[in-house]
Amino acid sequence: MKALYFNDFGTSEVLNYGDVIDPVINQDEVLVKTKLIGLNFADIYRRRGDYHIEARNPMINGYEGMGIIIDTGKNVTQFKSGDRIIFADVPFANAELVKMNWEHAIKVPDEITDETAASIGLQGLTADFLAHDLAKNKPGDQVLIQGISGGLGQLLTQILTADKVKVFGVASSVSKQKQAMNLGAKKVFIRSSDWDNDYVDIFDAVYDGAGVSLNQSLKVLKLKGRVIFYGMAGGNPPKIDPIELLNQSKSIMTGDLWHYLTDYESRKYRSNRLFKYVKDGEIIVKSPKIFSLADGKAAYEFLEAGNSAGKVLLRP
Ligand SMILES: NC(=O)c1ccc[n+]([C@@H]2O[C@H](COP(=O)([O-])OP(=O)(O)OC[C@H]3O[C@@H](n4cnc5c(N)ncnc54)[C@H](OP(=O)(O)O)[C@@H]3O)[C@@H](O)[C@H]2O)c1
Repeated sequence: MKALYFNDFGTSEVLNYGDVIDPVINQDEVLVKTKLIGLNFADIYRRRGDYHIEARNPMINGYEGMGIIIDTGKNVTQFKSGDRIIFADVPFANAELVKMNWEHAIKVPDEITDETAASIGLQGLTADFLAHDLAKNKPGDQVLIQGISGGLGQLLTQILTADKVKVFGVASSVSKQKQAMNLGAKKVFIRSSDWDNDYVDIFDAVYDGAGVSLNQSLKVLKLKGRVIFYGMAGGNPPKIDPIELLNQSKSIMTGDLWHYLTDYESRKYRSNRLFKYVKDGEIIVKSPKIFSLADGKAAYEFLEAGNSAGKVLLRP
C-alpha cells in the first residue's frame, strides 16, 4: 500500500510518500480501506518527536480516518465488509489501509456524508467530552472558547449553542471572528486587543486548547469556575500556582479523549450523541480542506502555519 512515512523526527521535510508493507489482520481485527484521513495538531507534535507515537519502522503518523471495511477477522460479528466507519484512536492512519481491533470502528449513519463524518470524528468526539464530561455547563451559562475558529472551536461552539449555553470566544482575525459569530457565538474578541480587562471574573467556564492563553483564561473565569485545558496549539502553558487557584476557588480540568474512548460501547454511545447534533442540523460542518495523501507534506505545512479554519483531510 501507499503511505506517508518517516524515518526520523523533524520538520515536514522528513515525510515521504511511497510503498510500505500492507497490514495483516488477526481474528479480532478489521481491515479498512481509507477514503479520508484526518490530520490533527497532535500529528505535528508526533512528527517533531514531542508526543507519544506507536512504534513502527518506518514510522507512520495519524490516528483518525474514515473508510470502508474490506476484510474482517473470524471473531468479528459487529461489522462486515462494506460497512462505512470512522476511527479516532487507531495508529498508522496516514495510509491506504488501516487495521484495527473491531472495537475501535464506529459505524457512520447513512444520513451523514463521508466528508462530514471524516471532518467531525476526532474533533467532534473531543468537543463532546470536553462539554459533557468535563465542563458540564447548564443552559444559560456563559463560556469563553480560546481559538474559537479552530476545528475544535467551531464544533464546540455549535454543540454548546445547541445546549443553550452562551458562547463567547477569542480569534486572531476579523474574518475568523465573523465565522464564529455565524456559528452561534454571542461575541468574539480579537486576540491582539486588551479585551480581557473588561471581562475579569465573568465566565462560568473557559475552554482553552491554545495553552499559552492559560493565565488569561483564569483571569476572565468566574470565582468557582473551571478552565477546561485541552491542548497547546499556541505553545506550552505557563506554570500555575495551585495556591492562587485555591484563593479564588478556580479549577483547571483537563483530559485526553482516548481516556474516554475505552471500549466499543463508549465509542458507540459517544458517537451517537455527537451524530445526533449533525442529524438535527445543529452542527454544520464547514467544507474541509482536502489534500491528496501523496501531497501530505503540504497538508502538514498548511496546518502548522496556522492557515486552517476547519478540518484538514488527506485523500488516499
Ligand atoms: N485533549 C484532547 O483529547 C484533544 C483532542 C484533540 C485536539 N486537542 C487539542 O485541541 C487544540 C485545538 O485543536 P484543533 O484541531 O481545533 O486545531 P486547529 O484547528 O489548528 O485550531 C487551533 C486553534 O488554536 C488557536 N491558536 C493558535 N495559536 C494561538 C495563540 N498563540 N493564542 C491563542 N490561540 C491560538 C487558533 O486560533 P486562531 O485561528 O484565531 O489563530 C486556532 O483556532 C489543539 O491544541 C489540539 O492538540 C486535544
